[in-house]
Amino acid sequence: MSASTKTYRPETRLVHAGTLRSQFGETSEALFLTQGYVYPTAEECEARFSGKIPGYVYSRYSNPTMSMFEQRMAALEGAEAARSTATGMAAVTTALMGLVRAGDHVVAAKALFGSCRWVIEEWLPRFGVTSTLVNGTDLNAWKKAVQKNTKAFFLESPTNPTLEVIDIAAVADIAHNASARLVVDNVFATPLYQSPLTLGADCVVYSATKHIDGQGRVLGGVILGSEKLILDHYHQILRQTGPSLSPFNAWVLLKSLETLPVRVQRQTDNAGTVANALAGHKKITRLIYPGRPDHPQADIIRKQMRAGSTLCSFEVRGGKEGAFRFLNALQLIGITNNLGDAKSLVTHPTTTTHQRLTPEQRTELGIGDGLIRFSAGLEHPDDLIEDILTAMEKV
Ligand SMILES: Cc1ncc(COP(=O)(O)O)c(C=O)c1O
Repeated sequence: MSASTKTYRPETRLVHAGTLRSQFGETSEALFLTQGYVYPTAEECEARFSGKIPGYVYSRYSNPTMSMFEQRMAALEGAEAARSTATGMAAVTTALMGLVRAGDHVVAAKALFGSCRWVIEEWLPRFGVTSTLVNGTDLNAWKKAVQKNTKAFFLESPTNPTLEVIDIAAVADIAHNASARLVVDNVFATPLYQSPLTLGADCVVYSATKHIDGQGRVLGGVILGSEKLILDHYHQILRQTGPSLSPFNAWVLLKSLETLPVRVQRQTDNAGTVANALAGHKKITRLIYPGRPDHPQADIIRKQMRAGSTLCSFEVRGGKEGAFRFLNALQLIGITNNLGDAKSLVTHPTTTTHQRLTPEQRTELGIGDGLIRFSAGLEHPDDLIEDILTAMEKV
């Protein structure tokens, strides 16, 4: 029985699942840096192309290193099938576009990563697909937004950057009553802390660029769901349009999965320690951490997540000026728009990831000019707290 099929615990699956060992018996998974494949005979070539016999034909379609990454992700997520993509945005775009055609309608939560919101508001309409954006925590708003032609629901939870948590099981029910499918962007929760498919979602997407790599090196993405969903809606789009993950990046991500639980656990501990150290600080007007009992959706978190988060967000006094003073005074923690890295990072959403939104749209989402998103890395928590508290003196 392979590690993909036996019900080992997640940590074990992340080290062993999906391994394809070559004739050389290597310990570490091989990197198949190849575009194509040669065939022993023309007959075998014909049979593989027609699908009569299994086998690789071209790395835009599939590749052994990509397959190992996909199978390991599927084993972790508890999904029947997975397909890797070049970036998280390729996964999100394909996951949405594969479910709709001209004349269809999408309902999505308003609180989305900027590029995801752009795809829904700006890109889908060019192909005749309309959308309604709702407050994701308001279940009545999801119900009211449904139209006869609604085919897909989309949400991320916890959201970027306010770490709002949406009741995935309840939204999945609303979607299914409307004969629509629910796609969940599970980047912030990671596959370790939240399993949207178990909660009723039809499709899960990741930017593997974040915690899955976790060391700031490569871009990648993955789409997971049932075998039927993947075959009916995504398989051909991915093969024919080609947002393929490079085998090299697949290898980096595959090897990173082995250490994912160790890294995410330590990053979560660090985020929680920082959040607790900041609670009640006089320069902070708002603190959001999914692992604290004062989180606005603490009940839902207990119900659908296994732990808090590697991220916490806080609003400093003084708006943009206060935030910039804080960011510029940090010595250890880097200013960036990325997250999930071994290095602790801070982001100012108003001027980066959510710059495209109008000030009114940001206010509606609770993204104030003083809001800062902190992504905890693997450093010693005392060094992080020292850096943050020293920089806070400048606010
Ligand atoms: C929630 C979320 N979804 C999707 C993406 C897109 O991922 P990528 O940058 O790998 O395309 C990001 C990236 O920041 C993200 O934060």
